[in-house]
Amino acid sequence: MTLDVPVADTAAAAPTKTLPDAQTVTSVTHWSESLFSFRVTRPASLRFRSGEFVMIGLMGDNGKPLLRAYSIASPNWDDELEFYSIKVPNGPLTSKLQHIQPGDEIILRPKPVGTLVHDALLPGKRMWFLATGTGLAPFASLMRDPETYERCEQVIMMHTCRTAEELTYGRELVENLRHDPLLGELYGEDFASRLLYYPTTTREESPFMGRITDNLTSGKVFADLNLPPMDPATDRAMICGSLAFNVDVKAVLEGFGLREGANSDPKEFVVEKAFVGDGI
Ligand SMILES: Cc1cc2nc3c(=O)[nH]c(=O)nc-3n(C[C@H](O)[C@H](O)[C@H](O)COP(=O)(O)OP(=O)(O)OC[C@H]3O[C@@H](n4cnc5c(N)ncnc54)[C@H](O)[C@@H]3O)c2cc1C
Ligand SMILES: NC(=O)c1ccc[n+]([C@@H]2O[C@H](COP(=O)([O-])OP(=O)(O)OC[C@H]3O[C@@H](n4cnc5c(N)ncnc54)[C@H](OP(=O)(O)O)[C@@H]3O)[C@@H](O)[C@H]2O)c1
Repeated sequence: MTLDVPVADTAAAAPTKTLPDAQTVTSVTHWSESLFSFRVTRPASLRFRSGEFVMIGLMGDNGKPLLRAYSIASPNWDDELEFYSIKVPNGPLTSKLQHIQPGDEIILRPKPVGTLVHDALLPGKRMWFLATGTGLAPFASLMRDPETYERCEQVIMMHTCRTAEELTYGRELVENLRHDPLLGELYGEDFASRLLYYPTTTREESPFMGRITDNLTSGKVFADLNLPPMDPATDRAMICGSLAFNVDVKAVLEGFGLREGANSDPKEFVVEKAFVGDGI
């Protein structure tokens, strides 16, 4: 006996992709009024280096894709892709993107690029990840990539936001990492001492306060973490924040003798903008 399945029914069972380069949202978490993260399916062919960004978006009202650059926040071994996003009031993309639900589709152009990659740095002992706001996203990927710990003995994640609530995504991510089975298997109980976390706020009281620039130039972060000052022989850094932040941190690192590198010319630090523009 053969089972007579109508062709139309079979076709209806397969998910239909309505957008170009469509990927399906699998989960969404809102961290505050202005921050959320979400996960989407990963195109089978997408290969990327942890720290890179892609263009993602939705179909605009004019029928054309409305795309923006987004750092991939998940590591390159993950089956899905994670993104960490701001909600810009009246922002063309994020005023819509913040309402996505599991099962919805987004557009994802599978062409990853970026400067925040290990290949752009010379081998070193300590790796400093320096971020404000959603500039944490590329480091959410790099912190979860075992290659980061193969390349250097210690990682220091400095993340600064205006308020403590804005630190929550990064804080939970680091806490979960310390209990991550994959990294634990690779590095054992010692792993906590390999990933140091230095979150600070600037507009709300919290255990650690102040701008990253000030905490580096005053030496406070080195004293608090019991580390020597940055040295081009041992220290490497990746910077991701607003343009003003990037410019100011770059000057601080150059003051310690570190030089800016690139994929084609690896040196001691690399920089990438977390967004383009002056303010909301
Ligand atoms: C290389 C690169 C990587 C990026 N990665 C991310 C990411 O991982 N997560 C993310 O949320 N955004 C990221 N952005 C910013 C993103 O491309 C969009 O600007 C953001 O999604 C807002 O889109 P929009 O259309 O709503 O507003 P836009 O018209 O794009 O922006 C309006 C204004 O909002 C402000 N703004 C935009 N994005 C941010 C932000 N992230 N933090 C603070 N202020 C912002 C700026 O002042 C900007 O002029 C990245 C940008 C670049 C260049
Ligand atoms: N309307 C609102 O309620 C609202 C809320 C948040 C953000 N925004 C706007 O959104 C934009 C992005 O906000 P954001 O909070 O992601 O980024 P941000 O304004 O760049 O601030 C993020 C963190 O980086 C610090 N910082 C800023 N510039 C720096 C520099 N040059 N060197 C060292 N540290 C620096 C800030 O410290 P300081 O606090 O000392 O500046 C803050 O702790 C800003 O332009 C802001 O005006 C608006």
